[in-house]
Amino acid sequence: MEEQMANEYASPLPPIHQMAAATLTDDSDSSIVPWCQFSRRVLIRSIVCSPDGGASLAGQNVTVGGWVKTGREQGKGTFAFLELNDGSCPTNLQVIVDEKVAPLGQLVPTGTCVYVEGVLKKPPEGTKQSVELRVEKVLDVGTVDPAKYPLPKTKLTLEFLRDFVHLRPRTNAISAVSRIRNALAYATHTFFQKHGFLYVHTPIITTSDCEGAGEMFQVTTLLSDTEKLEKELKQNPPPSEAEIDAEKLLVQEKGEDILQLKSAKASKEKITAAVAELTRAKENLERLEERSKLKPGLPEKDGKIDYSRDFFARQAFLTVSGQLQVEGFACALSNVYTFGPTFRAEHSHTSRHLAEFWMVEPEIAFADLKDDMNCAEAYVRFLCQWLLDNCLDDMQFMVENFDKTAINRLKMVALTPFERISYTDAVKLLEKVTDKKFENKVEWGIDLASEHERYLTEVIFKKPVIVYNYPKGIKAFYMRLNDDMKTVAAMDVLVPKVGELVGGSQREERYEVIQKRILEMGLPLEPYDWYLDTRRYGTIKHCGFGLGFERMVLFATGIDNIRDVIPFPRYPGRADL
Ligand code: 4AD
Ligand code: MG
Repeated sequence: MEEQMANEYASPLPPIHQMAAATLTDDSDSSIVPWCQFSRRVLIRSIVCSPDGGASLAGQNVTVGGWVKTGREQGKGTFAFLELNDGSCPTNLQVIVDEKVAPLGQLVPTGTCVYVEGVLKKPPEGTKQSVELRVEKVLDVGTVDPAKYPLPKTKLTLEFLRDFVHLRPRTNAISAVSRIRNALAYATHTFFQKHGFLYVHTPIITTSDCEGAGEMFQVTTLLSDTEKLEKELKQNPPPSEAEIDAEKLLVQEKGEDILQLKSAKASKEKITAAVAELTRAKENLERLEERSKLKPGLPEKDGKIDYSRDFFARQAFLTVSGQLQVEGFACALSNVYTFGPTFRAEHSHTSRHLAEFWMVEPEIAFADLKDDMNCAEAYVRFLCQWLLDNCLDDMQFMVENFDKTAINRLKMVALTPFERISYTDAVKLLEKVTDKKFENKVEWGIDLASEHERYLTEVIFKKPVIVYNYPKGIKAFYMRLNDDMKTVAAMDVLVPKVGELVGGSQREERYEVIQKRILEMGLPLEPYDWYLDTRRYGTIKHCGFGLGFERMVLFATGIDNIRDVIPFPRYPGRADL
């Protein structure tokens, strides 16, 4: 029998059914601190977030890793206290290291990474934590030079942190926002999966402008191709006319050589060699002629950029929304959603706009505007309840540091049915407002500005509001035309603190009507021809919406600027890393 070679990478995992059981056992016995399955340590959350704050875990041996938030040497340098955080929860674990165990000076600077083994102990009476870790062995240290570390212990503004987007997850604020964001993503999938929606991945590179607003980033290799060519032409200039003429002459001479050889009845070998020389000369001439056509600058045809020479042989863009593509799936699989990055080249410098943001877009077949509103409301309320159930410690952090009303706002939204009002009635209400002077005009037919949206939800109704049936002139071509021929079956969900959180509509399913609307909006028909197939063949009433994921994180956390709730913000003038 073949002898098995010892392999340190051999799988230690039990069969899958036993793995599930093992996880359950770990979770169900709260007196034993669970070890991570995929790294050799215990999560700090498993200690400090256990029901009694970890007190009953005293006596257990654990290994933890994390980054020092605050470290100080005590007892004239005989031991050190480290506040350690590994990102698993907002609470730090207090760690005590004796000078005999490791040189304390390299452990205490803020930002140092330590990986330590020790025993959990009950701290002396009167201290705020329920458990602390007495270190017996320091397994690894990632040191920090405090003179150079860009994130000192002092309280730093979110604006300052934007210059260090790669390090800012080390701060309490950004790590709490990241956990809330993660929870909202998990809740999103949970909600839609629970309701039988299929997750569809729509393309990031597209050739259709969903909103028809011309705010797309172009995807092209023409610029870099042109730059490369220009560099190459500088090093190796195209052939001159004289060089080409000389090569032409050579071809002619080589041709004549063959004729002469043939008439002199030369040997087969000699003729074959002369033919090979002619072929070489012809190929060379072809190459030179091809190169002589190369010109610096973008390729052109009929005075326009020639996109047939671009990577996709046509103009392509980053998507502004996955809606058009996901509609195709809804008209086949009936309940679907997409959740991915979207891009808008708007030059908005507001605290509510990003150039790259994530959008959740469900699409429902056999459903109308009312179903759409019901789904959006149920989803937003589900998200709020989810955070209350699963993220209360991080939400508490937000309340203490950013927005006193954050938890109450979640509770209010989770519990309160949303107000629903037509655009026409909303305009009437806003026109009557006397206690506030709006900067933007309120008038039927003009889009509501953010200040109007916030006034409706924050001042008039003091709860989320769904505004529906907007004038067709201010909404996208795909929204269903109402019988009044003036408005479309659109709806926006407005929430306090943020304004527009969701934009959606019942879709225009009638082929003739949607075709007319595309032309009416001054858009070309050709790029939407594939989309119209869903109306040509087996069309069905359907609806959907898009929830701006960062707007939801803003709403939940109470943070003021959208640039601080996405890991790597992109906005005009800025795309770090
Ligand atoms: O209202 P919008 O433009 O709707 C659509 O894109 C539809 N195609 C969605 C659909 O029906 N499937 O965008 C939807 C939401 C807005 O309500 C807002 O929350 C967010 O996306 N949003 C932005 N978030 C951050 N930065 C921007 N520049 C945003 N533009 C829109
Ligand atoms: Mg909108």
